[in-house]
Amino acid sequence: MCGIVGYIGEKSAVDILLNGLTKLEYRGYDSSGIALNNGGHIELYKAVGKLNNLKENIRPIKDELDKSTIGIGHIRWATHGAPTTVNAHPHTCNCGKLVLVHNGIIENYQELRAELEKQGCLFKSQTDTETVAHLVAREFDKVKDLTEAVRLATQRIEGAYALCVLHQDAKDTIVATKRNAPLVVGIGEGEYFVASDVPAIIDYTKKAMYLDDNQIVTLTRTSMKLIDKNNNEIKGKVEILPWEPVALSKMGYKHYMMKEIHEQPSIIRNLLSGKITGINENLNLNEVQLDKETVKKLNRIQIVACGTSLHAAMVGKYILEDFCGIAVDVEPSSEYIYRKTVTDENTLVIGVSQSGETADTITAVKQSKKRGSHILIVTNRPDSTMAREADSLISVCAGIEVSVAATKSYMAQLISFYLLAIYIAEIKGSVDKELVKKLKKELIVLPEKAEEVLSQENQVKVISRKYANAKNFIYIARGINFPTALEGALKLKEISYINATGYTAGELKHGPIAMLDETLPVLSIMMKGKVYDKILSNSEEAKARNAKMIALTNSSDEKLNELFDDIIRIPETDEYLSPILAIIPLQLIAYYIAEFLGKDVDQPRNLAKSVTVE
Ligand code: F6R
Repeated sequence: MCGIVGYIGEKSAVDILLNGLTKLEYRGYDSSGIALNNGGHIELYKAVGKLNNLKENIRPIKDELDKSTIGIGHIRWATHGAPTTVNAHPHTCNCGKLVLVHNGIIENYQELRAELEKQGCLFKSQTDTETVAHLVAREFDKVKDLTEAVRLATQRIEGAYALCVLHQDAKDTIVATKRNAPLVVGIGEGEYFVASDVPAIIDYTKKAMYLDDNQIVTLTRTSMKLIDKNNNEIKGKVEILPWEPVALSKMGYKHYMMKEIHEQPSIIRNLLSGKITGINENLNLNEVQLDKETVKKLNRIQIVACGTSLHAAMVGKYILEDFCGIAVDVEPSSEYIYRKTVTDENTLVIGVSQSGETADTITAVKQSKKRGSHILIVTNRPDSTMAREADSLISVCAGIEVSVAATKSYMAQLISFYLLAIYIAEIKGSVDKELVKKLKKELIVLPEKAEEVLSQENQVKVISRKYANAKNFIYIARGINFPTALEGALKLKEISYINATGYTAGELKHGPIAMLDETLPVLSIMMKGKVYDKILSNSEEAKARNAKMIALTNSSDEKLNELFDDIIRIPETDEYLSPILAIIPLQLIAYYIAEFLGKDVDQPRNLAKSVTVE
């Protein structure tokens, strides 16, 4: 969470900082701030709420601020302390000469704060970050060198941080460092940039250096010096970023979420191209760096992920176990990292993450790597921290996802799991060849079927509005579509704030059925196949309790009209592949309900796109 930027050069820092923060707004958006070194004097500007508020505050004095060519900026997702102006970054020391911005969590901030208060530091905010400002300032007073002050201060810090620091007496210098939080330095001609993520700098330079943990970089307009925590100078790895500047555009849609939902058919098409070259030929997945003998010996797969990525992983478990005959565990990363897990050299660990920066998943992956497991990362960001831990990397290539609610990246993760499962199954010979052929054939036509689902958008809109005032929602499904129910409910929860829950339909009568009455809509995901009749019976049970019934189905059975108040019909496909089509109407329902209720669809309250704290 939180995005940080820094600039030192000859251009107007304020423009670069605000542009950078705009690109980082997906990381948090409850307050923002910048600090500018204006002719040797540091000035702070902060605002609560969206970045636009800061831009508006600055607008009347913008010409004056344009003179400043050094600055740092921050966009916040509150961890410690409410989203107020005082808690917004940059934070300062007592005298205001030192300013810094921080992404991460300082775990021992209470002890440090108590100690610093005793020494006369006056705290203005409730943040953990302000401790670091005082700590670095005190070291600076002793050693009169900003880099050394940062080095000494960070040795006392426990937790995660990316920091960018300015001091009025360390003229024309920015110091930045990181531990367990991403930070990249952009290298220009007579200028340097610092940022939490590439989009903030890519408009200006493609030449960059990612910082490793505990490295400290000191930037002036004409020099960049990198040291390790023991003060040894080191040579950083400068690389050319494989990125083009991205002009983020809604392409005529009202929200990014809707644009991203509509991108899904072409994402499926792109992902399949070059991988399925013919239904009789083995699938191509060169990304998997395991030799065939090792694949054959795999006896266990552990998948770690959070949120929407976790739901994609659950579909992955279903198909990997069915096609490959390998036991698969799926676990939220935040649970996995706090228990002993049983792995050996024949265990494959898969980390799934849109952003590649989710702190819990990074920790889980690092732990497994230490235990010697092969690490396969499925991510939308091949340049991310997680991707850099990968032994095998499946880049899902969904393009930048701006809306906080993940849609197209989920789709891309699903397709990646189908490809992986078929790939392993073909090597192991563990699945019926005719089934694989059928699935390949079906996968190839899925983009058109996804387009067909999207073409029914208006019907979904009408149904969504009918239920928009419900206080609670239940999604039921069985088998491979249980994760679809969870994901549909999560989408609705996060953007409309309606309490929506996904249940395996068989569990309904073990408790949740008590909640049912005429005020509660139940959405049954009923795809033709093994569990269709079972879920039909479970839907009857819900109907008997007067619940409002909605069906999402690929069956044309007319009898459903009696049982259900509303029916969304989608094209038929193999049951194994049905989660790919079934999720689309659920994304649309969440979208239309949230939009109808006037919620901020792309930036829902309390959330951030990239969860970089554990
Ligand atoms: C929901 C959503 C979150 C993320 C979760 C993991 O729409 O976006 O639940 O899926 O925070 O993020 P990644 O996939 O970046 O690890």
